[in-house]
Amino acid sequence: MQQLLRLLADGRFHSGEELGRALGISRSAVWKRLRTVSQQQFLKLHSVPGKGYRLEQPLSLLRREALEDQLGICCHVEECVDSTNAVALRHLAALRSDTPFVVLAEHQSEGRGRRGRVWISPYAQNLYLSYVLRVENAQYLQALSLAVGVAVLRTLEPYGMHGIGLKWPNDILVNSSKLAGILLELTGDPADVCHVVIGIGINANLMEASNINQAWTSIQRETLRLIDRNKLAVRLVKNLERLLGVHIEHGFPAHHAEWEEKHLWQGRDVRLMSGASEVLGRVIGVTPDGALRLDVDGSEQTFSGGELTLRLQ
Ligand code: BTN
Repeated sequence: MQQLLRLLADGRFHSGEELGRALGISRSAVWKRLRTVSQQQFLKLHSVPGKGYRLEQPLSLLRREALEDQLGICCHVEECVDSTNAVALRHLAALRSDTPFVVLAEHQSEGRGRRGRVWISPYAQNLYLSYVLRVENAQYLQALSLAVGVAVLRTLEPYGMHGIGLKWPNDILVNSSKLAGILLELTGDPADVCHVVIGIGINANLMEASNINQAWTSIQRETLRLIDRNKLAVRLVKNLERLLGVHIEHGFPAHHAEWEEKHLWQGRDVRLMSGASEVLGRVIGVTPDGALRLDVDGSEQTFSGGELTLRLQ
């Protein structure tokens, strides 16, 4: 798949003959493969007799050297992986990389979302990035995932999308459609030294997808501009590092006001679900350790935990 898509990544016409020669397959096999790949990866393909095939828009492929030059840390840039978080955890287990380091991929076959969900990750369209950090003080982990949301939002705000904001605990939405998600995974002993893998998925250039089972959007959908994924990755990691620097000194209180200001559902009536039980209340804000504060029938209650789902009433 990746070889074929790399040949077509420039968005120009390529004849079936040329593609077949490069791949060592027949012209009809090229057509079959293209049809499958474009369907699976949600890529629009144009086929014009006498000219050949072209992708509707070029692919913004990741460039390891440019990323490392600008970020100054090790960037593992992969083609197709199960999950960048899983790759990062394997690097840690094998002591293969100094921290901090980043893992990026063009495609994830088993992208991990929160609460066991799958994160749909078509080839070279969105950003799939895991940033790995060594943590020596468990205090640092408090509300870290909410703080990361602030860094992601700061990265996305300059694209000028109306209605962008946070949703507790760490979704980035445009109005009510998901634009980006965050999944933190820990390894080691939080009471001693551990590592945190900060997994971030941002929908960048995706224009259509049939199998995402929630309302979603992408930067390109909102702005109608082709997004340079390398620039996006650099801005994201820089914002993340800046925020983590502040977080290590002052913790979540340093980002608390900004988080609440950017919370799209601040003051809204919500339904908080955990398995079969649910609570109705109005969002007051979040506590300094990132728990959700709700006004439930006139008294304040706080909620935290990975298995909670928040919906508008
Ligand atoms: C969510 O469900 O909102 C969290 C989605 C997190 C997806 C990212 S993509 C990069 C990293 N690798 C994964 O497998 N998941 C995270």
